[in-house]
Amino acid sequence: MTEILMNRLRELQEKDAYLSEGGLKKLSKEMNVPISRLYGMATFYTMFHVKKPGKNIIEICASPSCFLHGALTLEHFLTSELQIDIGETTKDGCFTLMKSSCIGCCDMAPAMLLNGKPVGNLTEKKLRSIIKKSNFC
Ligand code: FES
Repeated sequence: MTEILMNRLRELQEKDAYLSEGGLKKLSKEMNVPISRLYGMATFYTMFHVKKPGKNIIEICASPSCFLHGALTLEHFLTSELQIDIGETTKDGCFTLMKSSCIGCCDMAPAMLLNGKPVGNLTEKKLRSIIKKSNFC
């Protein structure tokens, strides 16, 4: 049942880029599953969003390999540059910043996902360049 629910949550999120309260309620009725269970899944897995995200989603890896290669320093850099905390979206709606567990790119730690695509060997210079690229917003 969990796999079916995960797939349904994924499908629902694909429509609106996040899981709205209305969408979760509708799915709860349709699947005859308590909304608390759906909400619990939606908030447990970092791939799901219960708030409307920004145009670009940065998920910085916080797992051991990336941590040991400076991910925490880069996380602080990003929160400072974007002037948001983890889980927040910039005022202009351009970036949402999230933390992630290992994304399977330990060989290029520190790494992150940018709109679901891995970007590795991160440095402050590389992050600044990504943020400044005008085509992102
Ligand atoms: S620990 Fe960061 S990608 Fe594996």
